[in-house]
Amino acid sequence: MAEQNKQLGVNTRLIHSGYDPRDYYGFVNPPVVHASTVLFPDAATMASRGQKYSYGTRGTPTTDALTDAIDALEGSAGTIAVPSGLAAVTVPLLAFAAAGDHMLIVDSVYHPTRHFADTMLKRMGVEVEYYDPHVGASIADLIKPNTRVVFTESPASNTFEVQDIPAIAKAAHAAGAIVMMDNTWATPLYFRPLDHGVDISIHAATKYPGGHSDILLGTVSANEACWPKLHEAFVTLGCCAGPDDVYQVLRGLRTMGVRLEHHRKSTLEIAAWLETQNGVARVLHPALPSHPDHALWKRDFSGSSGIFSIVLAGGGQKEAHAFLDTLKLFGLGYSWGGYESLAVHVFLGDRVVAKGPTEGPVIRLQIGMEDVEDLKADLAAALAAAAF
Ligand SMILES: Cc1ncc(COP(=O)(O)O)c(C=O)c1O
Repeated sequence: MAEQNKQLGVNTRLIHSGYDPRDYYGFVNPPVVHASTVLFPDAATMASRGQKYSYGTRGTPTTDALTDAIDALEGSAGTIAVPSGLAAVTVPLLAFAAAGDHMLIVDSVYHPTRHFADTMLKRMGVEVEYYDPHVGASIADLIKPNTRVVFTESPASNTFEVQDIPAIAKAAHAAGAIVMMDNTWATPLYFRPLDHGVDISIHAATKYPGGHSDILLGTVSANEACWPKLHEAFVTLGCCAGPDDVYQVLRGLRTMGVRLEHHRKSTLEIAAWLETQNGVARVLHPALPSHPDHALWKRDFSGSSGIFSIVLAGGGQKEAHAFLDTLKLFGLGYSWGGYESLAVHVFLGDRVVAKGPTEGPVIRLQIGMEDVEDLKADLAAALAAAAF
């Protein structure tokens, strides 16, 4: 299947990877196995754990169906499923960090990743340093003899800068460090981190794989070299995802290609239209030719998803709130990747290097599956309300 997989289109892989209906009486979807205890046929098998499944925390046919499907998409040696996207960040960091290590984290990272690094990692004796998302190959200048991990997220949370991942990976590997990437924005459909030198690919499957704003789940996929250590940490921490959520994410994966294509098209149309609107200073979407990192995005990514930001042309919190409070179709809520549109006034006060736009408030938009003309009308009314 692995060889055949390479030749199949991505939607075909989304439909057929991870589970063969013939393995379970022909039912199209895999069974949802609720399990702690697994019985062994005899004492010798029990003593040697000599069978495929030994305990619920270590995997079930349901989790295997999902993680095998993700491996097929990521080109990874192994994948773990954890209870949230945030756990998909913290588990690999715990797996590879030790007291005395130095860690480089992109300054435009998802805020709770920074919070984890600034609290738990620091308490463990890990030295954390934030770098500019535009650092590229110059990351070599920041790498120290004890740099163990470079943690990337591209495009950036909220401001959508694109990083030169191959250049960063080259410099990190030359110094013996490994590279992790939060690839939630692109999904493995639009960027395959391991093909670009990343060692560990992280996803909040809560977003596009889940797709319906009703599940929390994370996946972490590793290359051959990093898989044993990642798997060992997963088993040690007991941080396994529940079977119903795992099942729902596999279900979501089957339609993720067509959903993403809809998100991609609607989002690009709305982002380009917003560039022409009064009251918008800038649109931060890397697939727009006006974006400063567009060339880099075009070089490495094969598509774009449904989340980006706009910078209002002046104003402050009052104007941002006027904009948000006028929206009728866009919900005010965190997260993204579901079928419905969302908006949030972005907080960038945690940044130490990449401070973000200064023209006015930054509003992040998640474009859902509604009709584009309806969403444009909603946004036009909000822009009018925010005008000053
Ligand atoms: C880039 C990124 N990574 C990770 C997460 C965490 O995902 P979860 O909400 O499943 O914990 C989020 C959530 O918004 C995110 O935006």
